Amino acid sequence: MAKSIKIGILGLGTVGTGVVKLLEQNGDIIAQKLGQPLKISHILVRDLNRKRDIDVDPNLLTTDPEKIFSDPETNIIVEVMGGVGAAKEYILKSLKRGKSVVTANKDLLALHGKELFNASETHGVDLLFEASVGGGIPIIHPLKECLAGNRIRKVMGIVNGTTNYILTKMTREGRSFSDVLEEAKSLGYAEADPTSDIEGDDAARKMAILASIAFGTRITYHDVYRQGISNLTVEDINYANDLGYAVKLLGIAREDEDGIEVRVHPAFVPLKHPLAAVSDVFNAVFVEGDAVGETMFYGRGAGSMPTASAVVGDIIEAARNFQHHDRGRITCTCFYDKPIKPMGAVVTKYYLRLIVKDEPGVLASIAGVFGEREVSLASVVQERALNSSAAELVLITHHVREQNLQDALKILADLPVVKQIASVVRVEGGED
Ligand code: NAP
Ligand code: HSE
Repeated sequence: MAKSIKIGILGLGTVGTGVVKLLEQNGDIIAQKLGQPLKISHILVRDLNRKRDIDVDPNLLTTDPEKIFSDPETNIIVEVMGGVGAAKEYILKSLKRGKSVVTANKDLLALHGKELFNASETHGVDLLFEASVGGGIPIIHPLKECLAGNRIRKVMGIVNGTTNYILTKMTREGRSFSDVLEEAKSLGYAEADPTSDIEGDDAARKMAILASIAFGTRITYHDVYRQGISNLTVEDINYANDLGYAVKLLGIAREDEDGIEVRVHPAFVPLKHPLAAVSDVFNAVFVEGDAVGETMFYGRGAGSMPTASAVVGDIIEAARNFQHHDRGRITCTCFYDKPIKPMGAVVTKYYLRLIVKDEPGVLASIAGVFGEREVSLASVVQERALNSSAAELVLITHHVREQNLQDALKILADLPVVKQIASVVRVEGGED
């Protein structure tokens, strides 16, 4: 068989280990498909003596990145070390030296995508990143290639496995957020510091990447509105179920005549919507295009082998492009500079739970505030006495402007009859 194509891997953690295993496990069929074998030439790590879950030839391991960049025979670099400092420096160095790069690094792309894609274009090499969103789920290539003939109207997804696991357990077992979070940590789903998952930052990075591709305009992590799941209660989840909804941490990116909106927040999703059935650590991305209509991509959004599946797919593509002297074939597709809508201009429906004084005229005064701010109520779905002096009101609005709702809530909070605005959750996935 022909000479091998050599790969340098930066990082041998969860994803790096999966990539090494998969290249070994399926090396024969990959070589068949490519007509040439792939061979790992170097693996960059921080600590040469760390005990690892995999047996690798110690001669491949190095702590010196320059050894990899200066090897003229290594043509593809796989960045699976994470972080935005050294990873950015190493990717830029690799591109500059004419090496194609495969990365899983959403943190880096959601902040510095433009600079990295400009560099890959300048140097005529590939920068591939399928694993950066949805782990093993193919979504970047479908958006960039298979759906390229569509105008994408909306991308909506469950793109964080940790939070989906927590919400699934809260729903099925009626357990509190903090209780399930501890379990998610002990199972290794959530990080020791799970802030980025539970506060929506991880999902926001993934939505920035998806929205940039879907709408052809550069969206960064800072452009994404985000709200996490730590304030959700089992009580609200139970109300959602009674009303025919599942509660999910959703990423939503939509374009209309006023611009682009990109947001991550908990949402009530109708039980009949396909995203409502996505449970545990699974992820799914729902895409609406003008030609294809509705389509959904589902699978494991994280983990060693699922993520390695996406990385190795990209390595094979980079190797094919190298063989055919056709690197840099699909460049950055952010051709436009579209406005991003402020959150106040977003229009959606809301679920509200209010604790109010249990006395005559309360509902009328609350309805009056909503009316003044043009917040139209679809229904008062529950009115329950909590004790002799307090009652709970559960309301669902029609589609309203976020700013109008926030203004109304500010007035309500000062109303003597309102004891507490207990919950405000957006309702998504029904009729727009
Ligand atoms: P990880 O388990 O923490 O592994 C990181 C690896 O990179 C380790 O082997 C570490 O070396 C090495 N490393 C880190 N900084 C380094 C530096 N400055 N110089 C040399 N080596 C360095 O991370 P991971 O979970 O595999 O994630 C890797 C990337 O994939 C991240 O961008 C992440 O966001 C992305 N991703 C992960 C998943 C997932 O399920 N884990 C899914 C999708 C995308 P030592 O081993 O010596 O410490
Ligand atoms: N922490 C992420 C999640 C996995 O829970 O989905 C890596 O993207």
